[in-house]
Amino acid sequence: MPNTMTDLLPPIQSNPTMSAMDAIHQRRSVRNYEQQSIGKVTVNALLNAAVLAPTAMHQEPWSFVVIQDKSVLDRLSDSTKNMIRDEVKGSASSSAKQTLHHVANPEFHVFYNAGTLIIICGNHTGPFVEADCWLAAENLMLAACAKGLGTCVIGFAVEALNTAEWKAELNIPKEMTVIAPIIVGVPASDTAATSRKPPEILLWK
Ligand SMILES: Cc1cc2nc3c(=O)[nH]c(=O)nc-3n(C[C@H](O)[C@H](O)[C@H](O)COP(=O)(O)O)c2cc1C
Repeated sequence: MPNTMTDLLPPIQSNPTMSAMDAIHQRRSVRNYEQQSIGKVTVNALLNAAVLAPTAMHQEPWSFVVIQDKSVLDRLSDSTKNMIRDEVKGSASSSAKQTLHHVANPEFHVFYNAGTLIIICGNHTGPFVEADCWLAAENLMLAACAKGLGTCVIGFAVEALNTAEWKAELNIPKEMTVIAPIIVGVPASDTAATSRKPPEILLWK
């Protein structure tokens, strides 16, 4: 008899040749997707990978929303762009100008036309809820990578998703907080690796 929830989880269909280190090295933020959407079995496998993340006090403080309806993704993209435009339009900084340039472009879709958006919500309050949700997010993204799928965190959308209107539409209770919106899909092209600074080691005794 299984005696934990983990025993009940189906095994993740993974690429047998991809190790955890391979997935860490090969994950990219993908911004160009094929039209095809991913199926229910795959989405469930990613959610099951997400909930295996370490979690402070074993609270498991996460809940998920999955959006695959294109009209909802389009409206949410527009809503996000409008909100960001209103926020940055008075600012003279170069990053604000760059953001304004993106959101003023009618062709720019904040979800890059990906077919699936998975939103990780914190369903508790507490000092480690955000950390737990981000750990779940990384598990999800590495599992997707192992399945040959692309992902990208869309921080741009967090503010719009936390409005009362969007929470009501997406069945997110008002006491929950949207933490990590992640798009998932089949990459339409290769994405080059971005560079990283070497780890800054402050002390190694
Ligand atoms: C918290 C967070 C928010 C992000 N928000 C966005 C976003 O709104 N749009 C986007 O295109 N990429 C977003 N990204 C992706 C980063 O730009 C990307 O991770 C970074 O440039 C490094 O590239 P890599 O993920 O391919 O290694 C976000 C990443 C994180 C961790």
